[in-house]
Amino acid sequence: MSISLPHYSELPNTDNRNLLHIPGKKGIPVLGMTPWLYKDFYTTVQKHQNNYGLTSRIHIGFQQGVMPLGPDNAKTILLDKERNFSNEMGYKDITGIWFGGAILFRDFDEHRLHRRVFQTAFKSDAMQGYSEGINLIIDNFLQQWQTQQSVLFMPFVKQLLINIGAQIFYGIDNMGSEARKFADAFLLILDKGMMSLVKKDIPPLNYYYGQKGKRFIANHLGSLIADRRRHDGKDFMSYLVKETRDDGSFFTDQELIDHLSFLFFAAFDTTSSGLSHMLMHLAENHRLQEELREESRALNTETVTFQDLDKLPGIEMAFNEALRLYPSASILLRRSIRDCELGGFHIPANTILFTVPGFNHRMPEYWNNPETFDPQRFSTERQEHKQHPFQYIPFGGGAHKCIGMNFAQMNAKLFTHQLLLKYRFKLKPGYRIGTQILPTPCPVDNLPLLIERL
Ligand code: HEM
Repeated sequence: MSISLPHYSELPNTDNRNLLHIPGKKGIPVLGMTPWLYKDFYTTVQKHQNNYGLTSRIHIGFQQGVMPLGPDNAKTILLDKERNFSNEMGYKDITGIWFGGAILFRDFDEHRLHRRVFQTAFKSDAMQGYSEGINLIIDNFLQQWQTQQSVLFMPFVKQLLINIGAQIFYGIDNMGSEARKFADAFLLILDKGMMSLVKKDIPPLNYYYGQKGKRFIANHLGSLIADRRRHDGKDFMSYLVKETRDDGSFFTDQELIDHLSFLFFAAFDTTSSGLSHMLMHLAENHRLQEELREESRALNTETVTFQDLDKLPGIEMAFNEALRLYPSASILLRRSIRDCELGGFHIPANTILFTVPGFNHRMPEYWNNPETFDPQRFSTERQEHKQHPFQYIPFGGGAHKCIGMNFAQMNAKLFTHQLLLKYRFKLKPGYRIGTQILPTPCPVDNLPLLIERL
């Protein structure tokens, strides 16, 4: 008689008692180390490592698990050669609730199959087309600054990315009321749903509003699929809906809705965080800002397109450096699906693993003066980031490595190039550089800037 074992997705997280052989600390009841991490993320992680080593037991959010730090641990987890670690189960209780069927939350063969839904959308021809649309939106947005002397950068860049997302991801008129409704629905998920403690779909609970946003997006995207299949649009959605499986069949509407809605989420907070941290440092370091402006002026064009991107190495290094100090995804989650070994410790099946890219990004073993903003460390002469393939992982690594990396870097260059040619900017007097790392890194006070039209 054969006994069928339950699938790993049906099993609960391992009991903390099974982790007691791993050195570590639980923190306060229910929340664990979360309050300290909110207050000072990297100091807390560093202290934990000083006390308990690179592989330690910790309690973050409502979950107890293990925090494997350093590039060797990151390599084992992200490359996952033995297929020990599940994304689905790692993210299940956090983002998985909201974007469940998206590729980040699919494991192994199924993940590989679904990743190909994006194959045409990120090809050069498509990227060239997006770059033209994005440049127009950026130009339009930067005109809003013409009569201003100061701006709050975070809300500005978020609004910009919402408009880019509406047009470039879904082919929705980026300035119309449809885009506005769409943006509102997303913000319900991000600001209400993802902050909800009680997961009940009853008003006035935050979870209810998050679900309301999710339903709106699903219905709306669902209603656009047939139209996007009929027409030869140049937006992401028009490419995705035409992709097929091996047998020639289309992906189902629900699968496409999952992928398309996650796209917006994956691009939005991450890119706004990276851009605002880069600008925070350029606003402080006027000499560096002028150097990048000279680089842009030398191209002799108001806007750059996809083909010109490698002519802006200065912006690329500055963006890389912002993502080194403040990687937008502060913690990458996985759950072990079987007993395995990590960093010299036995890890029981169903253990949550918290990988912290920013710890690797600040290790003095790999980086000179790691706390200093120094884009030149990425230059061809210095190449500090190339000593270990997993010391610099703002976009993750292995099978789940960010599929939108080139798109994000393109956006950063298209935007910064136009900005540098049109405006000089500096920090408001009295502003002290600082950042709130959780839930997504954001400069303090939303980054107020003084601007001067050129
Ligand atoms: C600065 C901007 C960005 C950063 C720092 C970033 C970071 C990341 C990271 C760390 C992961 C891997 C997470 C993990 O392994 O647990 C990831 C995955 C992903 N990202 Fe990004 N991302 C950015 C922008 C974007 C953009 C613009 C898009 C879409 C256009 C995008 C789409 C995705 C998708 C679909 C995945 C899942 C890939 C998979 O599971 O195979 N990201 N991103």
